[in-house]
Amino acid sequence: MPPVGSAGCRQAGYCGGSVYCSLSADGRLQLAAKLGLNAPVDMLAKTRIACGVICCLALALLIALGRTSPPGGPGALARQEASTGEGARPSISDCRKCHADVWQEWNDSYHAKAFSDDQVQAAFEHFGFDRKCQSCHAPQGGLSTPGMVLEVRQTDQASGVTCLNCHGLPDGSIAGRRTIAEAPCRPQQSALLLSSEACGACHEAIYKDWHASRYRTEGKSCQSCHMPALANRAGGRSHLCTGSHDEALVRSGVTLECRQEGDELIVSATNHATGHNFPGERHNRVLYLQVLERAPDGQITLARQALIKGITPFRGESSREQIRVDQTFEARFPVVDPPVRAEVRLLYKPFPWYSDDEALTVHRKEVELTAPLGKL
Ligand code: HEC
Ligand code: HEC
Ligand code: HEC
Ligand code: HEC
Ligand code: HEC
Repeated sequence: MPPVGSAGCRQAGYCGGSVYCSLSADGRLQLAAKLGLNAPVDMLAKTRIACGVICCLALALLIALGRTSPPGGPGALARQEASTGEGARPSISDCRKCHADVWQEWNDSYHAKAFSDDQVQAAFEHFGFDRKCQSCHAPQGGLSTPGMVLEVRQTDQASGVTCLNCHGLPDGSIAGRRTIAEAPCRPQQSALLLSSEACGACHEAIYKDWHASRYRTEGKSCQSCHMPALANRAGGRSHLCTGSHDEALVRSGVTLECRQEGDELIVSATNHATGHNFPGERHNRVLYLQVLERAPDGQITLARQALIKGITPFRGESSREQIRVDQTFEARFPVVDPPVRAEVRLLYKPFPWYSDDEALTVHRKEVELTAPLGKL
């Protein structure tokens, strides 16, 4: 595990909008005050060793518990919070027993993969497995509010963002839409659970974008787009929480238009239906426009490109910007040798190291470019 301050952690790193670590004016490495820590390097190293010991103990416990979990039980889902004594809330494997359908949706979601996902693990490795990195990916504690500093959970990290991270209330009961006194998990009506604030502690940057947009004033919460109502479960809402990994959702958030004006092809991408900047995440996603012209045999004869948002992997250095709510990114390409047919594409990569072939074609259009009048 490389120490803080080693190559992996030299630059300021970001995720979910928070600065993770940075160099102070006197050259010492600090975790950003925003994450609640402002300690010099050696102190952090000590905490890390202590944390490591606890993690090992937790792992041992996990393995032990894993052995005793029933067959077909939720694998990595060891008891997150032991249900000892009266008033203790059920563990997340208990949630599964009574809410199997919700559990299945969650299990297929990126919340369940928030810690175990390969890309996330690779990034953790790059940042020296710092616990502050992991704090939103396997958090301790329950329902949170924007600005709240989360601590990493010491048990069952593989379960990522769990039921209790959204539903847990301090008194051991469960935040729900309604209070249901007779239900075993003791749901309490919670306005917070239904609001975007329930998502803001982890999704800091997107929450801020949303908060400054018309979607807040129009009363369109994160849940209204990301947890749509389900026909097959009365009053139920999808726990899949689809996002950037869902092609249809990505397509639905932005439009592509092209038109010729004189000797220019004007291509524009508009964020017309994303409740925040597009792409939502700042530090990995890449978005760009391509204009291709082909010979009759299909060979590409001319390829041009305009970067909307680019990124240097892990360093958080964006070249160009996301498209803000209701804003349009416009690029102009000179028309060469008309008449000619051009193919215009809006391309999206979840990670900068993906090749063009791996990029998602968000939208694609064909356009006939003609010789401008007067130049015939
Ligand atoms: C022993 C069965 C059981 C267990 C275990 C259980 N629940 Fe429940 N839960 C219920 C029942 C029954 C209801 C009431 C359902 C109804 O009336 O529609 C309920 C209701 C809820 C509601 C409120 C639904 C609403 O309409 O507002 C939420 C949220 C909830 N449970 C979450 C959880 C979570 C999270 C866990 C694990 C920590 C859990 N439950 C564990 C049986 C259980
Ligand atoms: C405890 C922290 C936490 C809370 C609270 C939280 N999320 Fe997340 N969410 C995450 C993390 C971490 C990821 C990234 C998981 C990954 O990609 O591996 C994520 C991913 C997502 C994604 C993207 C999935 C994808 O396919 O790209 C969506 C959408 C999402 N969350 C919506 C919500 C909504 C809506 C709420 C509030 C109801 C919420 N989240 C609350 C931590 C949280
Ligand atoms: C403030 C909470 C928070 C902290 C701290 C945090 N993350 Fe994240 N991380 C998130 C959320 C939320 C997402 C989902 C982003 C999105 O889809 O918009 C995410 C997404 C990611 C992804 C992309 C996953 C995917 O499937 O596309 C990686 C990789 C990642 N984080 C690694 C890290 C690393 C490395 C650190 C430490 C430098 C870190 N995270 C610290 C909240 C956080
Ligand atoms: C009006 C609908 C709408 C609202 C409201 C909305 N979103 Fe989104 N969200 C989208 C669309 C469409 C996408 C896909 C485009 C993209 O990736 O940015 C998306 C993408 C995301 C992603 C994945 C981004 C990425 O690059 O990984 C996350 C995480 C997310 N939203 C969280 C939230 C949170 C948290 C809120 C509330 C603060 C919210 N969204 C409000 C429509 C919405
Ligand atoms: C990212 C946050 C988040 C996670 C993780 C999460 N929930 Fe929810 N859950 C919500 C929100 C928000 C609602 C209310 C949505 C609404 O009605 O607007 C909800 C609603 C519910 C309901 C009401 C009925 C329904 O079908 O919507 C139940 C039951 C429930 N959750 C159980 C669970 C269980 C069990 C888990 C874990 C397997 C879980 N939730 C994980 C945020 C979350």
